[in-house]
Amino acid sequence: MQEKYIDETKQGEAFAIAEKPQNSKKLFLESYGCQMNFSDSEIVASILNEQGYNTTLLPEEADLILLNTCSIREKAEQTVRMRLSQFKNLKKEKPNLTVGVLGCMAERLKTKFLEEEHLVDLVVGPDAYRDLPNLLKETEDGRDAINVILSKEETYADISPVRLGGNGVTAFVTITRGCDNMCTFCVVPFTRGRERSRDPHSIIEECKELWTNGYKEITLLGQNVDSYLWFGGGAKKDFKKATEIQQLTAINFAQLMEMVAVAVPQMRIRFSTSNPHDMSTDVFKVMAKYDNICKYVHLPVQSGSDRMLEKMNRQHTRAEYLALINKAKELIPEVSFSQDMIIGFCGETEEDHQLTLSLMREVEYDYGYMFSYSERPGTPAEKKMEDDIPADVKQRRLAEVIALQGELSRKRMQGYVGRNHEILIEGTSKKNPNQWKGRNSQNAVCVFDKLDGQKLGDIVTVFVHGNTQGTLLGKTV
Ligand code: SAH
Ligand code: F3S
Repeated sequence: MQEKYIDETKQGEAFAIAEKPQNSKKLFLESYGCQMNFSDSEIVASILNEQGYNTTLLPEEADLILLNTCSIREKAEQTVRMRLSQFKNLKKEKPNLTVGVLGCMAERLKTKFLEEEHLVDLVVGPDAYRDLPNLLKETEDGRDAINVILSKEETYADISPVRLGGNGVTAFVTITRGCDNMCTFCVVPFTRGRERSRDPHSIIEECKELWTNGYKEITLLGQNVDSYLWFGGGAKKDFKKATEIQQLTAINFAQLMEMVAVAVPQMRIRFSTSNPHDMSTDVFKVMAKYDNICKYVHLPVQSGSDRMLEKMNRQHTRAEYLALINKAKELIPEVSFSQDMIIGFCGETEEDHQLTLSLMREVEYDYGYMFSYSERPGTPAEKKMEDDIPADVKQRRLAEVIALQGELSRKRMQGYVGRNHEILIEGTSKKNPNQWKGRNSQNAVCVFDKLDGQKLGDIVTVFVHGNTQGTLLGKTV
């Protein structure tokens, strides 16, 4: 059940994009980790497109290789190191080839990267992509180049992302960057810096442009979207210093989502990811009010035990989380949920583990993204707590959590059987070229036979007659 959301085991995808005929250099760009990295890569491609680079899917023909990296778990970093080692021979054959590391690993390791991986010429943190043209000039002169300065303002609001390798139907729109929450296990506040929100006007413009260009679904994206707060720019923690008028006219996430829902009334809208601590019931009210907002909330909880939640500094209790879930169920009758869980965090007992399982049963999540705890250097947990759960215990508990989620997913999928669903056609089924695949409002994947006249991007009514653990089987009505 470990799916696409943050799955460092998945090879980053390399993308081809619209070419500029006058461009002569080739960029091979691969992204690892969360959706935010994929979205950032679209900004990087856009910046480099202006610098003479078209993208290629073949590292062998690239002048510049960039890996947009993830630090969330140790394994994510190992994956990137392995990928880098594969470029060693290429670099020997082509001395002019530049290899760069972007994103969270760049930010975490900084100059260490240049010392440890001799192959790497360029290290750029997530807030420094505008500096890429200058940094590349330095590498052209034969020097290593690095910029890992984090910003309190950068949102890349004015850079129109080049849509990479997508289906032309669904797109990400970044609305916040960074995170101020300081969950004790998490490296994100260190690699992505202070939380800041993007100008709502530029968000609306981007959404409208996507609609004009044929897109049918957008996901509003951030490490922590529900803490979106626009008051004229700058880091969220500076809100108190804002002028009175800025404070009075500030826009929060519920208001932003409503603005988007009105601005692109036929666009399907999703959002990710949310921290329960920052989630307000106003968001659920807006979801209930607008048909074009999908009835699906990804609401990571990490553990079902209050003791663990406190050690993780999640700033809410199990009861508060369940109250939030119940409020959503009450306001949005058709709502579905997915979770993130961390298994085997410092000091987790069998009892804590059982509380995680019972919480899952209570919520009945549609999906889950579950991983063993991986200690990250520099985080509060690494500094103050002991990563004391033996690997085999973590593994066994993780297997139990995954098995339970499988059971719950199957049950939830069964609940969709026997009625019609509005499915957005997102592509051809991987298993059967004669079938479409798409998702319903609740984010459940559905496959069904293609009919003449149907095309990518259509929203069609499908009768669901069966299911597997993760997929609905249907037929166009
Ligand atoms: N902002 C979101 C989470 C973003 S990080 C929230 O509030 O929950 C994405 C997911 O990675 C987290 O939900 C968590 O489940 C997982 N994760 C983060 N740090 C981790 C670590 N050190 N070990 C294992 N999983 C981790
Ligand atoms: Fe990480 Fe917690 Fe922020 S999980 S991204 S510190 S909300």
